[in-house]
Amino acid sequence: MRVNGQAHRTIWLKAGEPDCVQIIDQRFLPHELVIEDLRSVEDVIQAIAEMHVRGAPLIGATAAWGLYLSVVQQPGDFDIGKLKQAGERLKAARPTAVNLAWAVDRMIAILELANSDFTDLTKREAELICDEDVEICRKIGEFGLSLISDIAKQKNGPVNILTHCNAGWLATVDWGTATSPIYHAQQQGIRLHVWVDETRPRNQGASLTAWELGEQGINHTVIVDNAGGHLMQQGEVDLVIVGTDRTARNGDVANKIGTYLKALAAFDNNIPFYVALPSPTIDWTLGNGELIPIEQRAADEVSFINGYLDNEQVSVRLTPGNSPAANPAFDVTPARLVTGLITERGVCEASEEGLLGLFSEKIKHD
Ligand code: MRU
Repeated sequence: MRVNGQAHRTIWLKAGEPDCVQIIDQRFLPHELVIEDLRSVEDVIQAIAEMHVRGAPLIGATAAWGLYLSVVQQPGDFDIGKLKQAGERLKAARPTAVNLAWAVDRMIAILELANSDFTDLTKREAELICDEDVEICRKIGEFGLSLISDIAKQKNGPVNILTHCNAGWLATVDWGTATSPIYHAQQQGIRLHVWVDETRPRNQGASLTAWELGEQGINHTVIVDNAGGHLMQQGEVDLVIVGTDRTARNGDVANKIGTYLKALAAFDNNIPFYVALPSPTIDWTLGNGELIPIEQRAADEVSFINGYLDNEQVSVRLTPGNSPAANPAFDVTPARLVTGLITERGVCEASEEGLLGLFSEKIKHD
């Protein structure tokens, strides 16, 4: 996608410095575009845990580069045990997005089979994970496009899409998941307007989704998290598309806290509610969403809010100093509230049958 008109990805190897991975440090958006150098697995763990990078697919891609850096750090004395430990520490950085464990396991599997060329092998695999993510997101865009164009054919004005959190290109390597159908629709000349949930407590919608839609020239409006239900009742929302951090085998979907409430409101108002789902986000080992671990983040993310004043990032207290705060970061939307899942292989029902219809290699043969 574009930043100041220039094509950009969210993560890349620094030109001429094979021991340095670069990311956009998302904590400073939309006010500053800060590029951060990551030179060790510790840097990567910190970047994931403290959300310099975030979004399930990008967390996975960053973890892959973390293991690459771990190999680069020990070229002469390759120790698979140490790499597995690094992998476990990476996995623990954020528990809900399954892409993290998926990417770590994939990198370790490559290393376990290797006898030499460890640096090249891990570099190639991390690059492959990134390139595959771009392709998966592009295909999600192509399949999701038809949902938007079908609505566009039936109405005169712009198609109004509501999205929650940031499931945009900043949450992936490129394109985004929930935003990819939107970017594809824009390329087709379909008139669009996006309602952007601000997404408390960290405001990924207000800061990240709004910024990236603006950079791509997409008409959008930021709303407080509680406005969505009202807008749906008023006929101002044609379609909801959100992302997911982990989807269970039965189609239950974990995503940013507040997604479930939007799904309930969409269901009550007969509004299609779709989840953009790259296959590495499917946890085939979990029968249903109740088993998905929900990350509990620091209470300070609720009690304080970040903003910019005189070009400086500042944090101000919102709540009484003695009021405790709780911060569950994700919730689970039951499959029955999900109209469909948009995957890189097509759109399916949110159910085990629906998913297995597209991913038949996951059918269990007892
Ligand atoms: O806490 P975050 O910002 O990592 O949460 C991100 C989300 O919930 C996204 O919707 C999800 O990762 C899908 S991203 C394509």
